[in-house]
Amino acid sequence: MTETGIAYSYAVAVLCALIALPVAAQDPRRGQELYELHCLTCHYERIHNRDPSRSLVRSFTQLRVEVANRAALTEQRFTVEDLDDLAEYLNRTHYRFRK
Ligand code: HEC
Repeated sequence: MTETGIAYSYAVAVLCALIALPVAAQDPRRGQELYELHCLTCHYERIHNRDPSRSLVRSFTQLRVEVANRAALTEQRFTVEDLDDLAEYLNRTHYRFRK
């Protein structure tokens, strides 16, 4: 194998590990704790029950983006795992988008 070939295989392996990890690590119970700690200051979870036509999010991807945007409004610095857990929690309890 050429040097570029080896480097390429390595990059693919690292990418696969990066993609696989967060999926396996999503923890909705942690997401709930984070939500209760940092999100209830502005709104109850009721906001996530509003009629889908009035909701800001239409897909899991949008939900994940919205979670990240809202998280930026808080004092807390969230990790990528925190945001994944929060989105997973809200999706399981309210939105139920297919991923
Ligand atoms: C600074 C206040 C504030 C904080 C803190 C906040 N939010 Fe919100 N969030 C809002 C407001 C205001 C809306 C509604 C916007 C609207 O009605 O258009 C909203 C709406 C949302 C929505 C979209 C609801 C829908 O279905 O349309 C999501 C998802 C959301 N917030 C997630 C979170 C999460 C997760 C956190 C904690 C990390 C959080 N928010 C913290 C103010 C906040």
